[in-house]
Amino acid sequence: MPRPDLIERLAHAQAGRARQSLLRKLRTVGQVDGTHVVIDGKRLLNFASNDYLGLAQHPALSEHLVRAAAQWGVGASAAHLLGGHREEHAVLEAKLARWTGREGALLFSTGYMANLGAVQALLGVGDVCVQDKLNHASLVDAARLSGAALIRFVHADVASAQRQLATRAEAAALVASDGVFSMDGDVAPLAELAALCKTQQATLMIDDAHGIGVLGAEGAGSVSEAGLDCSEVPVLMGTLGKALGVAGAFVAGSAALIAGLVQFARAHIYTTALPPALASAASAAIDIARFEPWRRDKLERLVAHFRQGASERGIALLDSRTPIQPVVIGASKPALAATQSLEAQGFFVPAIRPPTVAQGKARLRVVLSAQHEEADIEQLLNALARAIGHARSER
Ligand SMILES: Cc1ncc(COP(=O)(O)O)c(C=O)c1O
Repeated sequence: MPRPDLIERLAHAQAGRARQSLLRKLRTVGQVDGTHVVIDGKRLLNFASNDYLGLAQHPALSEHLVRAAAQWGVGASAAHLLGGHREEHAVLEAKLARWTGREGALLFSTGYMANLGAVQALLGVGDVCVQDKLNHASLVDAARLSGAALIRFVHADVASAQRQLATRAEAAALVASDGVFSMDGDVAPLAELAALCKTQQATLMIDDAHGIGVLGAEGAGSVSEAGLDCSEVPVLMGTLGKALGVAGAFVAGSAALIAGLVQFARAHIYTTALPPALASAASAAIDIARFEPWRRDKLERLVAHFRQGASERGIALLDSRTPIQPVVIGASKPALAATQSLEAQGFFVPAIRPPTVAQGKARLRVVLSAQHEEADIEQLLNALARAIGHARSER
């Protein structure tokens, strides 16, 4: 038997996806202008961006970026441990630690890498990683990379987490959960998970990619909102590329955790440091996120407005109080039809399909931003009602 050709195998898998309406399509955005994007020459009102506070195009961020690039150059040109760690990084780490109420913070180039780095540093063969079924792919991949046994629990079900922990009572254990679930928008039962971890001598890690900047006093995130300190959530991960509008990520925790990650987090050690100019822009973003609460207040009003309008139009929503407001359609084909209908009406709301979400749970992931206005929400709701009607005819 000849060996299988890997590229051919990939093409075969791709053809399978296409048959099931699951093909992913890379779209090029020609222009971004606040809440609007231009795609294929068409100007669309964007409801897909994680720029929750509207900071990605804030002039203060661009100014910091340009000034720091002029001073430091564009790239860090080395790994953190080999001369790439600049003053801008140190300042940002100190700021992140203060904001999240932790002793220290360590930067990573992406959230994906922060999860890989932290979990792989903490766990090894013989350990167990207990995770919510709806956790982000990077946490799942992180556990696989670590060599620990990966066990999933029923979404947001602490009793299920407890049962899963009990199956490996002797093993060193990390319980990991998203703070805000990226495709559903709900908030994890953080206090209950923390209590469980305490009684079970497990360590709790929360990925707050979608909570940082959005939830809690001064936007310090879902963990802060739940009033959980470093002893209750010893490993806190957050990203800089969503509400903060920049790129990169961090892990915050005790001085001992951070010192250990510097030694053992391979995704931090073996990679070029985040460009210092991005660190400078992120520092500016934190100040705006913390001290301009009107952005969070407005977002909260927009979320309430969207949910009220959806209910009035009979549009079913998931139980989410965050800017992530998915509309579950079900099968992939009608979900795609709904997206296309929205695009034809001038809205960008991509369909999220398996394997990103479970079979039969394809959805329109509507994401709100403080840059939207109530009139935008009204227009979207009317378009959504039409798109859902159109999707039904596609079943
Ligand atoms: C919950 C969650 N964790 C981690 C990540 C990865 O972050 P990044 O985009 O910075 O790699 C994302 C999104 O991308 C996310 O939604």
